Amino acid sequence: MTTEDHVTEAGDPLADRGRPRAYTIAHLPGDGIGPEVTAVARECVDAVAVRHGFVVEWRTYTLGAQHYLGTGEVLPDTVLDELRKADAILLGAVGSPEVPPGVLERGLLLRLRAELDLYVNLRPSKLRPGVAGAVARHHAADLDFVIVRENTEGLYAGAGGTVHRGTAFESATEESLNTRAGVERCVRYAAGLASRRRGRLTLVHKTNVLAHAGDLWRRTAEEVAAGAGIPLDYAHVDAACLYLVDDPARFDVIVTDNLFGDILSDLGAALTGGLGVAPSGNLNPDRTGPSVFEPVHGSAPDIAGTGRANPAGAVLSAALMLDHLGEPEASADLDAAVSAVLGSGAPAATSDWDDALQQALTEEAGV
Ligand code: IPM
Ligand code: MN
Repeated sequence: MTTEDHVTEAGDPLADRGRPRAYTIAHLPGDGIGPEVTAVARECVDAVAVRHGFVVEWRTYTLGAQHYLGTGEVLPDTVLDELRKADAILLGAVGSPEVPPGVLERGLLLRLRAELDLYVNLRPSKLRPGVAGAVARHHAADLDFVIVRENTEGLYAGAGGTVHRGTAFESATEESLNTRAGVERCVRYAAGLASRRRGRLTLVHKTNVLAHAGDLWRRTAEEVAAGAGIPLDYAHVDAACLYLVDDPARFDVIVTDNLFGDILSDLGAALTGGLGVAPSGNLNPDRTGPSVFEPVHGSAPDIAGTGRANPAGAVLSAALMLDHLGEPEASADLDAAVSAVLGSGAPAATSDWDDALQQALTEEAGV
């Protein structure tokens, strides 16, 4: 199931820093376009690793729809144990029309989020020069925000159930689970991020209707923001949708619950060029285990194998990964390369993207 892939060579030995930094990265290519876009991301990571003097050891795990259909396994415990030992996980996408909805989502994605305690889902939305967002009058300077989505609780926690199934009175409930500790650690991360950015934190919720959870979120966010010394804005989620389209410049860091963050981040992707360019990092900020980086888009089975997948979201996810690993310069190189390619007119073919990214990285290095 796992293949040990190649190991990149470090560039010049870092005489002053001892042994080169080395990272083991688990690569889960997954289904559909996942393998195509993460192959490009891997090449980009390898290129900046050489330049910045660190070593990457890739380990590939063939999880996803094909593996499930062939074996009945979604995420075997033995594989999970191996994944725990990685420094980070790069995931393409999982899902296929042949697998019933929920099997891979709950069994793989949500299980990883819970087991690895990936309590922040970091979803930056940045309109890059040359990219047509969904709203023609938006300018790149006005659309650069990050959604910090709580990633282990809320309506995703799995609480609820069905009774009287198959009768006229069948009832189904989904309960939103919000713990003080869970909300607090998420808002704390968001406040820290806001203080490293433009210092604006907005809580998005629906406190006028979801009175119990909303109250917990509001009190917690107010306390955390006050403790961090940053102002806290608030918007109801419906109004936030309107503002994101109408006046996105008001947002810097948005902190919100799991489902609101899921929905808002697709809107953020549409505003900044589509799902193809949207990255995400499922973070364990306490670093008690590896974090998972994946493009926001799914497996896109309709275009899989046509050579037309956009790898930008995967490359930007890899940039988030390198930043999390403590390689901010390498991360910035990937980010800049994606901007350069988008700025000169994004290619339609994945292979042209690949070439253009490598070219941009070479130019950045001044080679
Ligand atoms: C996402 C996806 C997932 C989510 C699904 C596939 C479980 O939509 O990462 O945004 O809802 O979190
Ligand atoms: Mn989603």
